[in-house]
Amino acid sequence: MRLVKISDYNHHNMQLAKPVYDRKGRILLGAGNTIHPKYLEKLKEMGISHFLVEDAESNGITLEEMLDMPTWMDAILGLQNVYNQVAAKKPLPLVAVQKTIGQLISEVKRRKTVLLVPSTSIASELRPYAHAVNVALLSLQVGKAMNYNDLQLRDLALGAYLHDIGKAITPEKTKHPEAGFNILRNIHDLSLRSAHVSFQHHETLDGQGYPRGLKGTAIHEYAQICGAANMYENLISLRETPPHEALEALMALSGTKYLESVVKAFVDRIPSYPPGTMVQLNNGEPGIVIRIDTHMQRPVVRILASGQEISLTDNPSIMITELARDSLRL
Ligand SMILES: [Fe+2]
Repeated sequence: MRLVKISDYNHHNMQLAKPVYDRKGRILLGAGNTIHPKYLEKLKEMGISHFLVEDAESNGITLEEMLDMPTWMDAILGLQNVYNQVAAKKPLPLVAVQKTIGQLISEVKRRKTVLLVPSTSIASELRPYAHAVNVALLSLQVGKAMNYNDLQLRDLALGAYLHDIGKAITPEKTKHPEAGFNILRNIHDLSLRSAHVSFQHHETLDGQGYPRGLKGTAIHEYAQICGAANMYENLISLRETPPHEALEALMALSGTKYLESVVKAFVDRIPSYPPGTMVQLNNGEPGIVIRIDTHMQRPVVRILASGQEISLTDNPSIMITELARDSLRL
């Protein structure tokens, strides 16, 4: 299985590996189907730009670290419902949210990494919610790497999942953090720490963030984690930056915008080259990343010509020099 851009999809040799969903989160095309070229146009109009496919090159890549699509879709539709309720000035459905958070935590806990389903594989109406679910998943992985306990993971994930909830009631970019804080701080069973994630997720260590220009330790660690996850997710989804470049961009801000400890936890947990990435090695061979073993930045690569599998962790002299031509930009 691997992710391909809609423009690289070839219906002669690629089958869908995961379903494609419509704007309402219903299955439009099931796994195993091929997509007729006529249909591709329709999907493009919906804002879908990537699919997960099976083809000869990606044979044997299972992406078991990827969240199950139904779990992901439930979390997305659940969040859409939260936004609708809040926009209608109705109570936020906290019990349902807590259930979703419990699921996300158990998904992250039982895997060494969680590969994101890119929000570009979903209709544009649902993308803001998919983004927030991905930010919650990334934040949880960082929290796990920082040895957070269950209570800390829950408060962090709730804050990350709801970090942009202020957008349900205000279209103004600079006002949504405080609007979100005001919604969340009035909910009894929600920790004030989660509410502060919404308030502070656009603040940065150097005081250049918004809305208050908080500096250094005035910013809660959870908000730093959510802020870094937010930046990374926007890079890979909105701007289609390849994951290794998005990590580089985050590393470049270590100590100035984001805590070094947070950036380090990110690099320890998030792979630079997810399985399915087509790469060029420094020995001249093109290959495909087939799995992550121990080291997030040193995956196992299958040489396309020979089928030989090389662990880059065990072979430190072999390096990925660039992404191969049709490689996906997540
Ligand atoms: Fe935001």
